[in-house]
Amino acid sequence: MKLFDTHCHLNDELLYKNLDAVIERALKVGVDKMVVIGWDKESSLSAINIAQRFPFVYATVGVHPNNIDGVDIAQLNQVFALAKQNKVVAIGEIGLDYHYTKDEENHARQKEIFIKQIEFANEVGLPIVIHSRDAFLDTICILKQHKPLHGGVMHCYSGSVESLKDVLDLGLFIGVDGPVTFKNAKTPKEVAFEAPLEKLVLETDAPYLSPQAVRGTINEPANLIYIADEIANIRQMSKKHLLEVVYDNACRLYKI
Ligand code: NI
Repeated sequence: MKLFDTHCHLNDELLYKNLDAVIERALKVGVDKMVVIGWDKESSLSAINIAQRFPFVYATVGVHPNNIDGVDIAQLNQVFALAKQNKVVAIGEIGLDYHYTKDEENHARQKEIFIKQIEFANEVGLPIVIHSRDAFLDTICILKQHKPLHGGVMHCYSGSVESLKDVLDLGLFIGVDGPVTFKNAKTPKEVAFEAPLEKLVLETDAPYLSPQAVRGTINEPANLIYIADEIANIRQMSKKHLLEVVYDNACRLYKI
């Protein structure tokens, strides 16, 4: 069985220092495609370098809302220049994160940088990887005004079942991560049950969000199997069928 980790950070020091072993363990359980997500210029460059070393690894470039300090137009253009590199499949992760600051000036800058990156993705024909934390309404509002023309994914979707419609109406995929395996995760389980199968993609967000079975350890792409098991169980479907569909979804998302 083949699995596709649509969102991991092999460019994070925690994984990068053991990169060969991490990749070997992923391949061993069938994770044969991975997209490494950038969050600023350096990590985007590192994602590209990893993708160029391994034929089954792809990269995204972008500036995460928590990493906008000191990012001006010139910096943003340097990140955009990286998108021309071979194996860059999306702009991301980009979006809004109000979790760490209530400062409105900061929120305004986040919005401005988010919009610039959506517009760039539209210009160059790439999908976007969206990070949204404690900012769902503003995120949807911006996406409605600046529609991602080449698709994208709501990474680690943490909204309600009711809000799914807003995301699906924009043509976006729904990213499901480790929290769906947590014992008390009522909403993520409901979302995994209710979301249309053809819009689901699986992601680890490694090294973060370790699934229940390995909670407390550094997450890695090999742990995607726990997320697959959980969703197959929730949806009462064969794992084989689930994996075939979500693998195909991931390829459609990133046009691989
Ligand atoms: Ni991430």
